[in-house]
Amino acid sequence: MHTPHTPKLALVMVGLPARGKSYIARKLARYLCWLGHPTEVFNVGSYRRERLGPAQTEDWFSPQNTEGERLRMEVAEAALADMLKWMREAVGIGIYDATNSTKERRRMVQRRCEEEGVRVLFIESICNDRRIIDATVRETKLHSPDYAGMEPDDAVKDFLKRIAHYEKVYETLDDDDGSYIQLVDVGRRVVINQLHGYLPSRLVFFLMNMHITPRPIWLTRHGESEYNVSGLIGGDSPLSERGVQYARALAAFMKDRTKATPTVWTSTMRRTMETARAMGCPTVAWKALDEIDAGVCDGKSYQDIERDYPDEFTARRSDKFRYRYPRGESYEDVIQRLDSIIIELERQREPVLVVGHQAVLRALYAYLMDIAADECPHLSIPLHTVIQLTPTAYGCREERFRLEPESIAQEPTSSR
Ligand code: F6P
Repeated sequence: MHTPHTPKLALVMVGLPARGKSYIARKLARYLCWLGHPTEVFNVGSYRRERLGPAQTEDWFSPQNTEGERLRMEVAEAALADMLKWMREAVGIGIYDATNSTKERRRMVQRRCEEEGVRVLFIESICNDRRIIDATVRETKLHSPDYAGMEPDDAVKDFLKRIAHYEKVYETLDDDDGSYIQLVDVGRRVVINQLHGYLPSRLVFFLMNMHITPRPIWLTRHGESEYNVSGLIGGDSPLSERGVQYARALAAFMKDRTKATPTVWTSTMRRTMETARAMGCPTVAWKALDEIDAGVCDGKSYQDIERDYPDEFTARRSDKFRYRYPRGESYEDVIQRLDSIIIELERQREPVLVVGHQAVLRALYAYLMDIAADECPHLSIPLHTVIQLTPTAYGCREERFRLEPESIAQEPTSSR
């Protein structure tokens, strides 16, 4: 499998202020980057603050304020020009994060993109649920540099007036806007118009499963296996005695952490299923969570590989992310097959525990923590450690719990 083809595509956000546009933009960027498509968000609000300072009060956003209108257009054009320049150089997907709330503005964006041979897909976020809007204003806008040093209640009042200015001129997407995805009340309803191509369809899938209910995700490798003890990779060996102890410790830890029964996912390999069994709750075994397939090197130690396949060993060292074992997989391949797991993880509203393997958990962790995909082969995911990730407004909070009282044998590594 080669690095996926990245289409010349601009994702253009549409929506009133405080409708989660930036949240969606960043989530899409993280997902696309992880899938191997360079993606960058161009946020017009940041351009405004950078060029004009953060001092604009609500009246600056009024459609009657001609000077404000002129300056807003200026920063919008600057951000757009930078995005198109970046897309030309990086061959990536640009996300244009602004309200783009009038047809006239969208036509301007459309025209500029067309001149560069870039296709536009509008993504509109509509939200009429007052509670969600208020929560968004309080959680994100109050921390914005726009309101630094202002009393929270005054800041909320100012921001609500800013929204009202946009409401006066807001035009929702319709057929003449071309290709779009419209999300109503965080995925309660999704409208799709003139959507073409594989990647845009995949984005619909992703967006349909996205929600904002916070819940923890736990990642852990299986308990130590017989193969880990002998320093061999791959295989399908059972747990060692220490591995069985870890399975018990993990079950006790989970009981302590959560009253609700978590959803427990394993791979189809013995060592993960044996680890989860101690929890005594239903588990789901996913083939997609199986460890990286080491092909002809499966069942060997790193020293064996260096001796028997010196060229392979060197090739893997020089590009561990793209290197594919003969008749096996690369990290890049692993990410592609984990796409369905990410969609499913995004969809789950209950706490989830993933009992997996080193390479697979590195790839999942890179997505969840927004780490460049090609860095993932070098991430530290030790045995007998639970990683707890709790989604926050724009990322995840991480805690690690080492559940092994006595020190565990040093694991062999295939370093850089
Ligand atoms: O050693 C345990 C293991 O899960 C192997 O089965 C797998 O091949 C390896 O880790 C992945 O780690 P790396 O990519 O660093 O070789």
